[in-house]
Amino acid sequence: MRSRTVLLLALCAGATLLAEAGGDGCASPSQECSAGPPPPPLGACIPDGETWGGGSVTDCCGGFAFGAYCVCLPVGATAQQSAIECCTRTTGPGNLVCSPTPPAASMYCFGNNGFGQLGVGDTTDRNTPVAVSGDFIFSHIAAGRAHSCGILSNGSALCWGLGTTGQLGNGGSSSRLNPSALSGGHHFSYISAGFGHSCGLLLNGSALCWGVGSSGQRGDGASTAIVNTAVAVSGGHTFSRITAGGSHTCGILASNGSALCWGEGSYGATGLGDSTNTNAPTAVSGDFTFSEIAAGRRHSCGVLVNGSALCWGLGFGGQLGDGMNITSAVPVAVSGGHTFSKISAGSISDGSAHSCGILVNGSALCWGQGTYGQLGNAANAVALVPEAVFGDHAFAQIACGATHTCGILVNGSALCWGDGAYGMRGSGESSSRVNTPVAVVGGFAYQSIAAGSAHTCALVAS
Ligand SMILES: *[C@@H]1O[C@H](CO)[C@@H](O)[C@H](O)[C@H]1NC(C)=O
Ligand SMILES: *[C@@H]1O[C@H](CO)[C@@H](O)[C@H](O)[C@H]1NC(C)=O
Ligand SMILES: *[C@@H]1O[C@H](CO)[C@@H](O)[C@H](O)[C@H]1NC(C)=O
Ligand SMILES: *[C@@H]1O[C@H](CO)[C@@H](O)[C@H](O)[C@H]1NC(C)=O
Ligand SMILES: *[C@@H]1O[C@H](CO)[C@@H](O)[C@H](O)[C@H]1NC(C)=O
Ligand SMILES: *[C@@H]1O[C@H](CO)[C@@H](O)[C@H](O)[C@H]1NC(C)=O
Ligand SMILES: *[C@@H]1O[C@H](CO)[C@@H](O)[C@H](O)[C@H]1NC(C)=O
Repeated sequence: MRSRTVLLLALCAGATLLAEAGGDGCASPSQECSAGPPPPPLGACIPDGETWGGGSVTDCCGGFAFGAYCVCLPVGATAQQSAIECCTRTTGPGNLVCSPTPPAASMYCFGNNGFGQLGVGDTTDRNTPVAVSGDFIFSHIAAGRAHSCGILSNGSALCWGLGTTGQLGNGGSSSRLNPSALSGGHHFSYISAGFGHSCGLLLNGSALCWGVGSSGQRGDGASTAIVNTAVAVSGGHTFSRITAGGSHTCGILASNGSALCWGEGSYGATGLGDSTNTNAPTAVSGDFTFSEIAAGRRHSCGVLVNGSALCWGLGFGGQLGDGMNITSAVPVAVSGGHTFSKISAGSISDGSAHSCGILVNGSALCWGQGTYGQLGNAANAVALVPEAVFGDHAFAQIACGATHTCGILVNGSALCWGDGAYGMRGSGESSSRVNTPVAVVGGFAYQSIAAGSAHTCALVAS
């Protein structure tokens, strides 16, 4: 207990520094826990092996994931929405077990560096992890088509790589080979990078987006082609998650778990039941309560609070996982009756499209396009329903790129599979089409991972 106290104090000190909207940063917002130990303060993780709320988060406060920060919300907020980002796994719906992951780390990237998306000051591809320039300490990272972003431990955001559509948010539209600070002095807790746009959540859950918006994907009520500074997403919503995909964006409302999407509707990836573009957040069809959501190139997937997974959007290639090979503009159930804790939707680039999820016991499943081995199931074919990733590994995180996939095991080792043409498996070689997981070299213990179209970034505890 002594070490726990020290840990929380140390983290709270950090949180106090960056609390801008919530006063002292350590005080939980206005609610009482009905049972169990008090909720962790803003900025704190739950120590390894401890459950929150006497065994079930439904007993106590629902905690929400604002990036690496655990934020307490009122009783009645849905339990599984508290799949806390700083926790590396869940043991069952509503029952969290967390690892003592520090909330800040060094960032390493590998793979395609054609636009500087590895952030190392040059444009040379790497097939082993290389440290992002600047000795920054990051708390959360994102990888898009050809750009990368990270949030520093003080909440400032940096982006680098391809910048031609304003996706770096630094007030310019040129590409950057090194981390470049976002304009506006915002303090972020969560960030997501899509094809030509990026989005983030502030500490209070308000959403901002920047970059291309011609399909409405910024959600700012306009369809201006390029906006190169962060602008507010319309509607004044408070989100627990946001995910920037190909030409659309989705988020989960912090208050009740409803999913909203905006942007390109032509493939149904916004889940609105039709094919119209929207430039403001609009409710996904069906009264579902989500805990996780992921936007791919032209499809989206989410996990409900009961662990069932749904996907919607472009379905030619099996990426909806419903056993069909057709597009759906409303959510359809992923086949198999599996109970998921995490999900990722791939294909930030045109071409292929796949999805992967982690079950509550840590097993990873993938479905969809498999030509490059990106399903990790020892095959190179389309799978219309989820198939197990080879090797019986227990995963804590998974991230789908366009034609590759990476994951972190519960012990911190990183594995990748699929296309390695630019080195984005980080396995020290650049062969294409590896259809079972191979280790990312370097021996680091990773705490989070993000896959762009042909590059990968990950955080290493510092
Ligand atoms: C956050 O830290 C970075 C790097 O140390 C610094 O450049 C930036 O000004 C800081 N941001 C704030 C808002 O203090
Ligand atoms: C969140 O904080 C930002 C910046 O401090 C502020 O502009 C916004 O109104 C806040 N949102 C809510 C819902 O309070
Ligand atoms: C969730 O909250 C939003 C915004 O407050 C509201 O529009 C929506 O109807 C709510 N959804 C459900 C299922 O209660
Ligand atoms: C989860 O909830 C959805 C929507 O309410 C429902 O369709 C599905 O059957 C539920 N799954 C399980 C395993 O109960
Ligand atoms: C899926 O549909 C596409 C387009 O109709 C077709 O080319 C492809 O062969 C189908 N794949 C499977 C696995 O049925
Ligand atoms: C996880 O559960 C699935 C089915 O529910 C099972 O097939 C798989 O073997 C389990 N994985 C582990 C690591 O126990
Ligand atoms: C993590 O577990 C895998 C097997 O599941 C093993 O190959 C790897 O060496 C382990 N990594 C560490 C850092 O212990």
